[in-house]
Amino acid sequence: MTKRPPNGTIHDRIQAEMLDSFDEELELEIDDDRLDALTNEFADHTEEETIDRRVYFKELFRLQGELVKLQTWVQHHKLKVVVIFEGRDSAGKGGVIKRITQRLNPRVCRVAALPAPNERERTQWYFQRYVSHLPAGGEIVLFDRSWYNRAGVERVMGFCTEDDVEEFFRSVPEFERMLVRSGIILIKYWFSITDEQQHLRFTMRIHDPLKQWKLSPMDVESRSRWEQYTKAKEAMLERTHIPEAPWHLVEADDKKKARLNCIAHLLEQIPYQEIKQDRVVLPARVRNPEYSRGPI
Ligand code: ADP
Ligand code: AMP
Ligand code: MLT
Repeated sequence: MTKRPPNGTIHDRIQAEMLDSFDEELELEIDDDRLDALTNEFADHTEEETIDRRVYFKELFRLQGELVKLQTWVQHHKLKVVVIFEGRDSAGKGGVIKRITQRLNPRVCRVAALPAPNERERTQWYFQRYVSHLPAGGEIVLFDRSWYNRAGVERVMGFCTEDDVEEFFRSVPEFERMLVRSGIILIKYWFSITDEQQHLRFTMRIHDPLKQWKLSPMDVESRSRWEQYTKAKEAMLERTHIPEAPWHLVEADDKKKARLNCIAHLLEQIPYQEIKQDRVVLPARVRNPEYSRGPI
């Protein structure tokens, strides 16, 4: 926590608040880097640090400021936005989603991260449980994994039949075209990491008590099925890359670059403009002397 002068001027206090924001991001970053030293014991090389932290912070905050403008634009024009994040385990989908939502209103921008389908859902039309999470006007929904599970984890792990997969590939273009025709802006990202990088990230998770929960049995199994995932990914990208909803690939071995690239790209997909808000003037508060001894 940043020390806040108890009797500082309003400017001191605003500055302290801003420093708190930096601390917040630093905290996320330190958490990411925490085990680099430890993992040196286990890996020959750690993730390449290619961006200076200060440059990264500055650019991230600028982009987050732009996301706020985009949010206002989306609300004002009642746009419906869907962003899909796909990629192998540990590719960094969660990290970029966290930074996108960090400064936004959760009622405008929310995350859909669905668990494995339950017994009832398994009997439904495959897309049904995803449909209920689609946005209304003025909303952005970030899908942390999506209906593409059928072409990825479900196919590779054998949770569905090859007929199911074929039916999925037939349906997806139709399904997505319907979404787009209904006015949804649909943006799809594939986060791409190398075999070595995934190995490194999994190793870190194994040795980090705060991260072990991220390593599901599914993830461990996916390590040994790397090649099958590669085949599945190639088929998926090839068969579902349509003009109405193309895939965008994010090189994700370098986490910081991946985040900045992805957010910058996302901002370019929607031609928003800044909507000037009326300056808000805070009302003077009427104080009841009985309650004015401290903050309430
Ligand atoms: P995470 O997204 O945190 O990596 P997991 O690795 O546990 O989660 O699971 C990966 C994906 O596989 C999730 O989207 C999950 O819903 C899906 N999944 C897990 N088990 C099943 C199952 N039995 N049937 C269908 N999908 C499953
Ligand atoms: P494999 O034994 O993994 O080489 O897969 C043989 C065939 O099974 C492939 O040509 C596919 O038609 C199908 N198949 C099964 N699982 C997968 C997968 N994960 N990715 C691609 N194809 C798969
Ligand atoms: C990612 O890093 O791609 C997501 O957070 C999923 C995961 O942690 O495996």
